[in-house]
Amino acid sequence: MYSLFFKTVFARMDPERAHRLGFALIRFAARVPPLRRALAARLAPRRRELRVEAFGRVLPGPFGLAAGFDKNAEGIDGLAALGFGHIEVGTVTGRAQPGNPPRRLFRLTADRALINRMGFNNEGSAAVAARLAARSARRSGTEHRGGHSGGTGEGPVVGVNIGKTKVVPEEEAAADYVASARRLAPYADYLVVNVSSPNTPGLRALQATESLRPLLGAVREAADEAVPERRVPLLVKIAPDLADEDVDAVADLAVELGLDGVIATNTTVAREELGLRSDPSLTAETGGLSGAPLRERSSEVLHRLYARVGDRITLVGVGGITTADDAWERILAGATLVQGYSAFVYEGPGWARRLHEGLAARLAASPYGTFAEAVGAAHREAEAA
Ligand SMILES: Cc1cc2nc3c(=O)[nH]c(=O)nc-3n(C[C@H](O)[C@H](O)[C@H](O)COP(=O)(O)O)c2cc1C
Repeated sequence: MYSLFFKTVFARMDPERAHRLGFALIRFAARVPPLRRALAARLAPRRRELRVEAFGRVLPGPFGLAAGFDKNAEGIDGLAALGFGHIEVGTVTGRAQPGNPPRRLFRLTADRALINRMGFNNEGSAAVAARLAARSARRSGTEHRGGHSGGTGEGPVVGVNIGKTKVVPEEEAAADYVASARRLAPYADYLVVNVSSPNTPGLRALQATESLRPLLGAVREAADEAVPERRVPLLVKIAPDLADEDVDAVADLAVELGLDGVIATNTTVAREELGLRSDPSLTAETGGLSGAPLRERSSEVLHRLYARVGDRITLVGVGGITTADDAWERILAGATLVQGYSAFVYEGPGWARRLHEGLAARLAASPYGTFAEAVGAAHREAEAA
């Protein structure tokens, strides 16, 4: 049914308008409690065997929504009702900014891919923190009376992804991240330092260890000061375009700094080597490419990270995941959690449910009792062989 809707409605609309419409429908559903409950009853993971533990929380399933869909934390509860086990909001920057001028989002339907150069359009960390605070107050006042406040506790796991404001010079990048971390850490089940989007000039240079070390240190300190009662898990999100040695360097740094996780990967600036089928006028658009053609490289980066860090750090696999097989492969490669964005556009609202059901079937057919046992199994098998 969704594929017909996609072909007749969304595919004929400008992609960014289609996103706004789809997201408005999701938020509407969340505001009508019987509708939200009906959706959640049908789509949200409830099987015990799907539960996974990460970042001090139990998640209803390993599959979540990647950053960029809900940049301003407006639709967390609607998205959770669609079955995402965690929702990563953002990227949020220190100051509000409009992002790049439209058109800035392109559908490569023949490749099941997207190209975006949104450029971190978002309301800024003060506004997003206020929205998260209001949500948290609503929740502690109603459904979760007596429960604890802040970003932790029951309900969907909420990651908050932060990035640099475009007009802030690179020398002041850390202060911009720190301002966001201070405001947002109280509401975050985990915090992500995004240094890998291709659409903010100079951002990816922050992946170099000499820049990344002080940046992560400063954000860690800011989160600890803002939330003294809880150690907010801190992750870094990396690009698929890093050279292998640079992936290793980030992995070593993550261990050295006691980081909680690494998210691999963001979108790619690569084109030619991806064997794209879409019209060259589309594939030539500037920006980050995501979706199916990214799968192989994202998986490769994840394998490399796991080979280096093993289970010392929680890895999150993202990039080109469409099916349960894709997600299962990523878990065997070393991911405790998996995420996706682009395939949501092509697969529709039943996507997270299909993925979780398929993962439960893969687990049942495997020699592993739990997802935790399956994490990184591809490496152990390779060693044993
Ligand atoms: C339109 C769009 C906007 C995105 N915005 C962000 C962002 O703000 N921050 C971020 O870390 N990643 C962003 N991403 C990257 C995704 O989170 C994800 O890492 C990437 O798309 C690969 O996953 P996928 O192939 O499942 O889409 C964006 C992706 C898309 C398609």
